[in-house]
Amino acid sequence: MQYGHFDDNAREYVITRPDTPYPWINYLGCEDFFGLFSNTSGGYCFCRDARMLRLTRYRYNNVPADSGGRYFYLRDEGDVWTPSWMPMKSSLDRYECRHGMGYSKISSARNGLAFSQVSFVPLHDTCEIHKVTLTNESNIDKRIDMFSFIEFCLWNANDDMTNFQRNFSIGEVEIDGSRIYHKTEYRERRNHYAVWAVNVPIEGFDTDRQTFLGLYNGFDHPQAVFEGEAKNSVASGWAPVGSHHIKARLAPGEVKTFVFVLGYCENHEDQKWERPGVINKKPANILLEKYGTSNAADKALAALNEYWKNLLGRFTVDAEDKKMARMAGVWNQYQCMVTFNMSRSASYFESGIGRGMGFRDSNQDLLGFVHLVPERARSRILDIAATQFPDGSAYHQYQPLTKRGNNEVGSGFNDDPLWLICGTAAYIKETGDYGILEEKVPFDNNDALADTLFVHLKRSFDYTVTHTGPHGLPLIGRADWNDCLNLNCFSKTPGESFQTTANYESGVAESVLIAAIFAFTGPDYAEICRRTNRIEEAEYAEKAIAKMIEVIDQHGWDGDWFVRAYDAYGKKIGSRECEDGKIFIESNGFAVMADIGIKDGRARKALDSVKEHLESPYGIVLLQPAYKDYHLELGEVSSYPPGYKENAGIFCHNNPWVTIAETRLGRGNRAFETYAKICPAYREDDSDLRRLEPYVYAQMVAGKDAVRHGEAKNSWLTGTAAWTFVSISQYILGVRPVFDGLMIDPCIPSSMKGFTVTRHFRGADYHITVDNGAGVEKGIKSIMVDGNSLDGEALKKAVLPAFGDNKAHNIIVTMGK
Ligand code: GLC
Ligand code: GLC
Repeated sequence: MQYGHFDDNAREYVITRPDTPYPWINYLGCEDFFGLFSNTSGGYCFCRDARMLRLTRYRYNNVPADSGGRYFYLRDEGDVWTPSWMPMKSSLDRYECRHGMGYSKISSARNGLAFSQVSFVPLHDTCEIHKVTLTNESNIDKRIDMFSFIEFCLWNANDDMTNFQRNFSIGEVEIDGSRIYHKTEYRERRNHYAVWAVNVPIEGFDTDRQTFLGLYNGFDHPQAVFEGEAKNSVASGWAPVGSHHIKARLAPGEVKTFVFVLGYCENHEDQKWERPGVINKKPANILLEKYGTSNAADKALAALNEYWKNLLGRFTVDAEDKKMARMAGVWNQYQCMVTFNMSRSASYFESGIGRGMGFRDSNQDLLGFVHLVPERARSRILDIAATQFPDGSAYHQYQPLTKRGNNEVGSGFNDDPLWLICGTAAYIKETGDYGILEEKVPFDNNDALADTLFVHLKRSFDYTVTHTGPHGLPLIGRADWNDCLNLNCFSKTPGESFQTTANYESGVAESVLIAAIFAFTGPDYAEICRRTNRIEEAEYAEKAIAKMIEVIDQHGWDGDWFVRAYDAYGKKIGSRECEDGKIFIESNGFAVMADIGIKDGRARKALDSVKEHLESPYGIVLLQPAYKDYHLELGEVSSYPPGYKENAGIFCHNNPWVTIAETRLGRGNRAFETYAKICPAYREDDSDLRRLEPYVYAQMVAGKDAVRHGEAKNSWLTGTAAWTFVSISQYILGVRPVFDGLMIDPCIPSSMKGFTVTRHFRGADYHITVDNGAGVEKGIKSIMVDGNSLDGEALKKAVLPAFGDNKAHNIIVTMGK
């Protein structure tokens, strides 16, 4: 069944009942301050770094699920409820949650009192705004007690959940009128505090959790609320919280609004105190002044809406298939921006204390947002490149706050270097900015080792060339894109990390996937060399690529599909010779993306084999047959129960590789089929099985060997977002940035009659209308550019020039044979 519906005009997903099968969340914030916000007002917020600067506490894997958030309690003559449903699971006369672009809105009503809460992070400020509106819809006077509630995190989220012997003694607050300040550790080395404020006078407050809740009570039964009276408690140690008690009298029909602000404020070290022991409130005063009225909050929300309207205006789609149009035009791009901001740090599956920014993840994420924020993509590339080592390998992860490589995870993932070429090529194709190649970038975060970005790309390319194994295929190192194919690990110790433990240096284990990535992205490197007049280097690169393709032909083909890898004993993985793991998705998708085997029919055969062996109703599984037992020589892939994660789960990230590969064969029907199967909007009415948000991609959907085949996990922070956007926008709809301009190359289902795309590209707007009255899957009969038709070679090439004239251009494309 469905738990809501899309509102396409508003760009919102409307959740119509609160008991979704899992919390369905949204992200607030687009610069320095972020909030995770569930459909029942659960979640938390942080400034810049989800681990180091967390403002509010959130208990992962808690019971009941998703308790903790920004809560409001209402009390009407003894009747107490939470209008966001949680944490009391209150019965409501109506309920709705609208997740929009950077904001969420919860509206509900009970017994003649309507409540609405609009929550967002305004542009350029480090705070959350929660605008609350109460409306008396009854015909009698109402005397309402409203209590706000948040629980402060003692900043370092990891320490907060582990170091109780210290933490229960350090909590400190200050209360000043309607403003509650959280200042734990401010007396020593922190120069920041949080403030939780409301723009009206309050009746009372609480800042000590136990006093507010009462002994042994949960969030669902706060004593202060049930008694109708705040206790004015001042936290000292234990658990500091923030609760305002507001009394509101509402005549029939009367409306009252309240602006709550939860802000993060910093002071210079020498200006921390107003007087001894009293914090300097200047930055808080400025912030709260700014958002002190309901009008000001509305204006800030309008500015945020404008920001998103402009951003998403850079790529829009219209088509008869509304599911595809709303995903490609809105939600897929929105998710790409979230992966830009969060990488893999904070979601309802990533605790915000674990991983930093991944080298490969960030480069791939870039493919999905480079057209939206090219400037920010540029600096992201330079940040990533600075964590590369002089030999071309790279730190596998880096910390977002310091931008430095993370030693704990180290390096040795031999696919990493190539993704830097892939990301940089995408940036140059989008912007035409070859200047980025001449930027000086440190190696190993060391300025003394700085060289141009071009040199970084060369080291990436050379790293693959010089690290090959017995068959001439690239050595896999710790793992390639598949983090769980740990062919040099041989771990026997429970709990040991498969990614960081390298017990064994075989110098033998090789990856066909890395070879295919090299064949796919290498030509862009060669082309970049040619276009920047590095002709010799281009020729060297082209030779190396041709050689690699030969090696794939010789040692990477298994008869009906591409081999996946060779293990430390030189035995094949992903071959009919294997008992389990006979066929893998990754090498097949990527090899065909690199056009390998297209002329001689192997590409077709490989993709047909993928369909025959790996297909399921919910997408393509990663491998078959699933590993039944743990294999010392394969590592983590065989540690998962069959059907989950990398062991034959539908690992959505690599499904679009097959989609793109299918378009290389011109099979638009099949390409679209693989696209739609993992696209969440097509599974909206199947939410009881899928469980996660129907507006975002998940990393994994349980595969056909799994107990819960079709159930999704790990939504939001996945490379699936970027790659599906590439597959639908560039390869199915076929509007593809190339070095020379914007290529038009649709490959669509024959039943799709046409579509329109508007695309902002290098300083001009392209209004592209594609007509497929002919009912073909691929092929262009004519292209009209501003009324003039392209002919001969120009039509064959089908590349629109970069007009760069700040104007709109009309492109009419007719498909046909
Ligand atoms: C996770 C990782 C990514 C890896 C993938 C496959 O999504 O973030 O780096 O490629 O798993 O193992
Ligand atoms: C596990 C996961 C994989 C992820 C990795 C990150 O191996 O299965 O998806 O990339 O952890 O550390």
